[in-house]
Amino acid sequence: MISTTEQIGSIPHGGKLIQRQVAKEERDAYLQKIANVKTVTVNTWHLSDLELIANGGFSPLTGFMGKTNYTRVVEEMRLEDGTIWSIPITLDVEKAQAEALEIGEQIALIGEDDEVYGVLYLTEKYHYDKEKEAKLVYGTTDPSHPGVKKVYEKGDIYLAGPIHLLQKKANNQFANYQLDPRETRKLFAALGWKTIVGFQTRNPVHRAHEYIQKCALESVDGLLLNPLVGETKSDDISADIRMKSYEVILDKYYPKDRTRLVIYPAAMRYAGPREAILHAIVRKNYGCTHFIVGRDHAGVGDYYGTYEAQELISQYEAELGIQIFAFEHAFYCTACENMGTEKTCPHDKSYHVHLSGTKVREKLRNGEELPKEFSRPEVAKVLREGFRQR
Ligand code: ADX
Repeated sequence: MISTTEQIGSIPHGGKLIQRQVAKEERDAYLQKIANVKTVTVNTWHLSDLELIANGGFSPLTGFMGKTNYTRVVEEMRLEDGTIWSIPITLDVEKAQAEALEIGEQIALIGEDDEVYGVLYLTEKYHYDKEKEAKLVYGTTDPSHPGVKKVYEKGDIYLAGPIHLLQKKANNQFANYQLDPRETRKLFAALGWKTIVGFQTRNPVHRAHEYIQKCALESVDGLLLNPLVGETKSDDISADIRMKSYEVILDKYYPKDRTRLVIYPAAMRYAGPREAILHAIVRKNYGCTHFIVGRDHAGVGDYYGTYEAQELISQYEAELGIQIFAFEHAFYCTACENMGTEKTCPHDKSYHVHLSGTKVREKLRNGEELPKEFSRPEVAKVLREGFRQR
């Protein structure tokens, strides 16, 4: 039986919203039960995945992937049962550590801060081919790609099995914006939103982001601004600075009754087209009915074509069960005195205001203004202050 909250918004991926969080009142008893089990220390990336499995963001996954699921996801973008899934969700350890663990054991997952975050019911441990994972998932074996670099740095063995989450990684500074898919679904129902567009970002919201969000919002009831706050590469703007910038832009430029800000606790893979599919699946689980994919979604450098993510996701849209709003590269045109894309603006590129991420960071580091055609001044101010404090 699907409960009422699960029926709000889109149907969860695989049909059922997964819930593997141990209730607060049961946590102490649970901790006692596992007091003497073996432990594995996990990093912040693992903790993000653990949380998203447990809160249903990664439904229908109930744990870290076993070899059959993993292989099918890498090779065919499908789970064992045929459900579409684009990125492996795995727990890596070093070989020596894997050898000390027995199949069938419960393993406490400990953070680098020595806190117990979860439990893994170990069903499998297996070796995997890093180059193959890089090539098929990221489309490159180049170690300069930040996602591929992560794959190469991992331990050689994957541990698999269902999990339970005992506590979330503290995201105290974002506590007001930390909602699970179950909670966002309830929130949308309370707001009376029937159609909701989800927006993924690892950047501050600049004018182009705002433009495509608002174009989408013209056709739906609400916007879920759902920034990724897990691990990103070191030169991306940090989540705490970004969160302040989201607060100021929402406050001044967005309709309060049609916009909500909720964090997406995942780590960024930079896997372009394949990650766009994961991003859409997760937002569907959060209750969104629509999802925005713009230019070079989840891309980095020039590993992916500008519209490669849109091309891949469009092949699976019907099956994904979330509607994709695809947008062309948006910019401010000084001749139109307006935002637009090649679809709507007739002017030459020389009229278009565009700044690369590198250029933006350089300007911020030097304390320079960002052009108001590129970024709202309130956002630019937060970013400049954030950079100055660092
Ligand atoms: S991402 O790695 O999280 O995708 P980013 O935060 O830059 O990066 O993008 C968020 C979303 O906005 C993505 O769907 C991306 O394709 C889209 N996007 C970013 N900049 C533009 C732009 N200038 N025009 C159209 N879409 C854009």
